[in-house]
Amino acid sequence: MEKVLKKPIILDGKALSLQLRQKIEQEVRGYVSMGHRAPSLAVVLVGDDPASQVYVENKQKACQKVGIRSLLYHLPKNTRLEELLELIAQLNADQEVDGILVQLPLPPHIPQQEVILSIDPKKDVDGFHPENMGKLVARIEDGFIPCTPLGIDLLLSHHGIELKGADVVVVGAGFIVGRPLSLLLLWRDATVSVCHIHTKDISEYTRRADILISATGVPHLIKGHMVKEGAVVVDVGISRVRDRIVGDVDFEEVKEKAYAITPVPGGVGPMTVTALLMNTLKAYRLNSSIK
Ligand code: GUN
Repeated sequence: MEKVLKKPIILDGKALSLQLRQKIEQEVRGYVSMGHRAPSLAVVLVGDDPASQVYVENKQKACQKVGIRSLLYHLPKNTRLEELLELIAQLNADQEVDGILVQLPLPPHIPQQEVILSIDPKKDVDGFHPENMGKLVARIEDGFIPCTPLGIDLLLSHHGIELKGADVVVVGAGFIVGRPLSLLLLWRDATVSVCHIHTKDISEYTRRADILISATGVPHLIKGHMVKEGAVVVDVGISRVRDRIVGDVDFEEVKEKAYAITPVPGGVGPMTVTALLMNTLKAYRLNSSIK
């Protein structure tokens, strides 16, 4: 019998972001028109990693577009830990600052954990502070959920993709995406498997997944034969290969099998930034009298 070729649904994060950012902008304009100050986000960048600079610029532009005040603190790469902690203490104390984001990775001489611990959990719009990670474990709603997991959750739910009872396989157990994402998926009642660098045979897991999410940064790691027919595939990877941006997923192969798939670029990336705007607005509501 001839194989019927069906096009997968494209999980378009750019389009959904546009919709969500319009709503955010309306809400922000509403507060300002009522006489409140605008929400604000302080972004701290240490050093001059080119990829981090691009991410930070994107975040700032997105803030400005929706009326969130964005403050950039760009410190030299030889900044001492004490200097960075002093800046964070000032931002913690500043009542006009709602959210604080320290772009990762930090230069190797600065211990990431110490920096994250120094951020006021109520301003931790990245959701990386143990208090917020703990709230994710405990399913306490007033914490901050890390931006990429939150963005993926919004994208899947917008497209009506059911997580409850689904076999979800997350490839990559990193601090920024894989680990908090697996906790959020458990919150949504999915059956979650997490693969990582020590997993013996990743494809043994990926082939069983109803929903496959890859967050490794290894270009084209996920090939067609590793994906179940009819699966939903979410690609978190952003890698530069010969001046092209590519994901973890070999899109051309995998699109033949997937029911739905995220593009790179234009899938998870914009949703991460949108989630950051939502978290900043949440911090603003939490830290001001607006409920
Ligand atoms: N570096 C890569 N992704 C992120 C993120 O979501 N937040 C921060 N702070 N740094 C990152």
